[in-house]
Amino acid sequence: MNILILGSGGREHSLAWAVKQNPKCDRLIVAPGNAGIAEIAECAQIDILDGQAVATFAEENAVDFVIIGPEAPLAAGVADVLRDAGLSVFGPSAAAAQLEASKSFTKAICDAASAPTAAYAHFTHADDASDYVKTQGAPIVIKADGLAAGKGVVVAMTEAEALAAIEDMFDGSFGDAGAEVVIEEFMTGEEASFFVLSDGETLLPIGTAQDHKRVGEGDTGPNTGGMGAYSPAPIMTEAVITKTMEQIVRPTMAAMAARGTPFEGVLFVGLMIEDGQPRLVEYNVRFGDPECQCLMMRLGGQVLDLLQACAEKRLSEMQVNWADDHALTVVLAANGYPGSYEKGSVISGLNNLPDDSHHMTFHAGTSTDAQAIIATGGRVLAATGRGDTLAQAHARAYAQVDQIDWPQGFCRRDIGWRALPVSSG
Ligand code: AMP
Ligand code: GLY
Repeated sequence: MNILILGSGGREHSLAWAVKQNPKCDRLIVAPGNAGIAEIAECAQIDILDGQAVATFAEENAVDFVIIGPEAPLAAGVADVLRDAGLSVFGPSAAAAQLEASKSFTKAICDAASAPTAAYAHFTHADDASDYVKTQGAPIVIKADGLAAGKGVVVAMTEAEALAAIEDMFDGSFGDAGAEVVIEEFMTGEEASFFVLSDGETLLPIGTAQDHKRVGEGDTGPNTGGMGAYSPAPIMTEAVITKTMEQIVRPTMAAMAARGTPFEGVLFVGLMIEDGQPRLVEYNVRFGDPECQCLMMRLGGQVLDLLQACAEKRLSEMQVNWADDHALTVVLAANGYPGSYEKGSVISGLNNLPDDSHHMTFHAGTSTDAQAIIATGGRVLAATGRGDTLAQAHARAYAQVDQIDWPQGFCRRDIGWRALPVSSG
């Protein structure tokens, strides 16, 4: 099979790494890819937001299966264009991608599905939003309605912070995403991510993870796209998984089908869990980054069969072959991230890293300049370890971090702290 993966991050590197282990994979192309991906696949420079350009490329290259990694092409309807062109595609339609692209859409679906989530109100004018905050008080959560690359959410601990966030969002600092805001009740508890494949009819859970969203150690500082993750998430017990499926995922999928927009792809269910009760924080319509790096390390080559069965509506025939293992990934980011950061610094020490089924440093934001690997993004590498225990996965991930020589980058040293038996630093 010839396979095309769209995207250029650590998520797509890990997808490519797993897919490539499946003997069915003959030719693997990633567009646009990055320096790490180029070591294991062909990279193609196409505009992945242009469905027609992707369809033409796929036809010219006899591509049998397209996997769409990030949310932007999904929200732009690239999956729809490819399906209309007769291609086999993993990824939801633009209509179903609204579950990530619009927070108010998701809230309305949760209402229709009676899925437990934070109480909310939706505003299109700053004054009304500010008045609402004054009646509710803090803490309170302010969200730009559209896609904002993980940066459109402000968890305001004071009323002043909430009012400032509203002002920012209506001032255009989040672009079009801020023309509407959703204001939510602040939920307490422990967060976890849950990943479920859906072919529009059958649902198949494919793993749990916990992400570290804050930039600083001890989960402090501004939100980021994710500074590290581990899988499985101990808080996702069988009982919590069952409740999540029955109270949140199944009714949401039924509501999506009932409105004529069935969801086909991977649903990323962001949860807040308190006293054994899950509540929905958000949906995403693609794998999490860096959660995906952990999931791919654990699932390996079977991922291709699972994603293909999902695209062909054969999920009812599939099961996941689980190993009793753990994975942990540590993100190395450019100094300054999630604020402004420099691009172009040279990363050394990558050549002698182990790369096997227990160790893999995935590239997230790199390219090649002369012979050197240079940093081109905020999140740049994801050092990932797998082992029989979380402690072993942790040791293997940080052993890679310690071999990487990149003074212009940093990482958190405490990834996994909540789940590790003792703080290993
Ligand atoms: P989101 O982009 O919706 O995932 O939000 C980013 C992060 O903000 C989440 O992972 C949570 O840590 C936090 N967050 C979002 N909504 C809430 C809420 N209603 N209560 C508490 N924390 C929240
Ligand atoms: N790590 C969170 C996300 O991918 O949105």
